[in-house]
Amino acid sequence: VSSTPSQSADNRRFVLAKRPDGLPQASDFRLETGPIPKPGRGQFLVRNVYIPVDPGMRPGLSDDTTGVQAFAPVPLGAVVGYLTVGQVVRSEHPVFAPGDWVTDHLLWQDYAVSDGTRARKIALHPNLSPSTACGVLGVPGLSAYFGTLAVAEVKPGDVVLVTSIAGAVGSIAGQIAALKGCRVVGTAGGAKKCAWAKERFGFADIVDYKARPDLAAALREICRDGIDVLFDNVGNAMIDLVLPLMRRNGRIVICGQVADYGIPYRDMAGIRNTNRFAFQQLTLRGLFTPAFEDRYPTAIAEMTDWILDGKLTYVEDIETGFEKLPTAFASLFRGENLGRKLIKTG
Ligand SMILES: NC(=O)c1ccc[n+]([C@@H]2O[C@H](COP(=O)([O-])OP(=O)(O)OC[C@H]3O[C@@H](n4cnc5c(N)ncnc54)[C@H](OP(=O)(O)O)[C@@H]3O)[C@@H](O)[C@H]2O)c1
Repeated sequence: VSSTPSQSADNRRFVLAKRPDGLPQASDFRLETGPIPKPGRGQFLVRNVYIPVDPGMRPGLSDDTTGVQAFAPVPLGAVVGYLTVGQVVRSEHPVFAPGDWVTDHLLWQDYAVSDGTRARKIALHPNLSPSTACGVLGVPGLSAYFGTLAVAEVKPGDVVLVTSIAGAVGSIAGQIAALKGCRVVGTAGGAKKCAWAKERFGFADIVDYKARPDLAAALREICRDGIDVLFDNVGNAMIDLVLPLMRRNGRIVICGQVADYGIPYRDMAGIRNTNRFAFQQLTLRGLFTPAFEDRYPTAIAEMTDWILDGKLTYVEDIETGFEKLPTAFASLFRGENLGRKLIKTG
């Protein structure tokens, strides 16, 4: 038990006001306030300090049931969000104590109660902010780590194409592949963003897909001998376009499908160049990062060493102000973020 915010203080939270029509808008969410919840026996109260915005939240905002929805739709009026980083302010739990930094599924709200089942204590490093637990040392970085090393099994000399390479997952995936001796190429939207990612992360070859309507020709120009690994964050049309460029025994990893999120099943692009799978003996594997949860500690320790040794760098695109969550989320779908987009609650 410790100093607790007054029970009459407001707990701000964003709920789903209406289902987005196409690209999400800030007006799809509604700010509500309520009392700060009280932890019961075996629970603790967390104040969210860093709340990231995740493109992967978009599919659950729709209720299109004609396709196969991976997650159940968020009910209208329910609090939205995903993993956050915060500090325990009051505890009736044997393991989590006031002052502990934790990451947990605590959604877009100031305060939330957890029973600890899905919470992870953050081992704070003096040179690293707790925010890294929802960035480079959280699900985005872990997706990059397991997607490149465990799913694609990149090896020295591979040509690895990472899409959305300036983003939270892509910027780390590209660097890990480079660390392993691969040649890394990428795609990003806009000349300024491509130049920024080259400069910031040292990627030599990034194609601005917004400026190159013939993206396949642009990729062929810089990957004359083909591509061994596609680490895809974009979706079906991108995979279809890259398939003819894949080299024998190439591997395609589906990490994200941002261009397909929220598109009704009947309008979604398909993957048609499937003859390439047999001809070039390709494999396509999906990445579901939580499936690697038992290996998170090893991955986090290794990535922490890389960061401290200067081998891995990361960018946090932080805005302060809880109320900015909806606009920050919508901005992801216009490609306005540089690296990991997150909100510091204040
Ligand atoms: N499989 C898993 O377990 C797992 C875990 C975490 C995340 N993910 C997925 O990984 C992907 C990347 O996540 P992130 O957090 O790193 O996001 P992010 O790349 O930091 O941000 C999203 C980026 O997507 C690009 N984009 C938006 N709309 C697009 C469109 N219509 N076509 C092409 N590109 C578009 C934009 O970059 P540009 O400038 O390039 O346009 C934008 O900056 C997401 O799809 C996410 O759902 C999967």
